[in-house]
Amino acid sequence: MISLETTISNKTFSNCLMNASGVKCMTLEELSNLKNSESGTWITKSCTISPREGNPSPRYVDLQLGSINSMGLPNLGFEFYLDYALKEHKSGNDNLFFSVAGLTLEDNIEMLTQIENSDFQGLVELNLSCPNIPGKPQTGYDFDRTDEVLKQVFSFYTKPLGVKLPPYFDIVHFEMMANILNKYQLRFITCINSIGNALYVEDESVVIKPKGGFGGIGGAYVKPTALANVRMFHKLLKKDISIIGCGGVESGKDVFEHILCGASMVQIGTQLMKDGTKVFSKILTELKEIMKDKNYTTILDFKGKLKEL
Ligand SMILES: Cc1cc2nc3c(=O)[nH]c(=O)nc-3n(C[C@H](O)[C@H](O)[C@H](O)COP(=O)(O)O)c2cc1C
Repeated sequence: MISLETTISNKTFSNCLMNASGVKCMTLEELSNLKNSESGTWITKSCTISPREGNPSPRYVDLQLGSINSMGLPNLGFEFYLDYALKEHKSGNDNLFFSVAGLTLEDNIEMLTQIENSDFQGLVELNLSCPNIPGKPQTGYDFDRTDEVLKQVFSFYTKPLGVKLPPYFDIVHFEMMANILNKYQLRFITCINSIGNALYVEDESVVIKPKGGFGGIGGAYVKPTALANVRMFHKLLKKDISIIGCGGVESGKDVFEHILCGASMVQIGTQLMKDGTKVFSKILTELKEIMKDKNYTTILDFKGKLKEL
């Protein structure tokens, strides 16, 4: 009997799959579709205090090896998502992830204060890595700023909280970020967000409108970078910080690799965008097949056990 059950913080999930924030999770209809899918749980669209329309279209394009986007955080506003999360709590679901992406530290504090004082009992993913807001640098690439944000957040916030990180590419940066994260009572990190500010060219033109065509890429392009980030943080973080892997997941094999590198849970972005929620059952079936072939019966049989030469 194969079990795909997994645990983050004090929560147990029936399986290790969920959507990546921002993908098919903005409206009530999209959130309901996720709820009715085979995923182990789901996360809401990163929200700002006020609703946002986001950047002008075209702002997302499917590519053969992934996707490029510069959405600019379109969302229905914090109140909508808090209201949704509280309804989920009332109906008995305390395993929901709630993504928060304030445009300033003050906005994040304001939203987290309201969540802290509410009945919400799920997990917050604080997004420190949105690459698509014109004029706003990613907090996750500013180490001192990240430390300051976490210091202020953990001065009052007591519920389960994790951070969504951008991809890192330099060993020293991994170490600097891990040293900061290890100072706080984080329950998880999610890595990676899109690789920011890539450029795709077709027919002598860019393919998306915002920012002169520059956008975040996801999908197969980013899998090796995502696996490296999961692996490196698995080695560097204290063991009570779980890792949610995200990036380049199209198949059960991709999920298997994320878990081998150290992920406890795995998110799907671009492929969910392309296939809709049926992607979860396909990938779960493939993952179970791989585990069956290898005589693994639980996620813990192979989590973090990547072989090194
Ligand atoms: C259309 C779109 C919107 C996204 N919006 C968000 C967002 O609101 N918050 C966030 O943390 N990440 C957002 N992301 C990044 C994804 O959550 C994910 O980190 C990234 O796409 C890599 O995963 P993938 O390779 O499975 O696509 C978005 C990605 C896409 C494609």
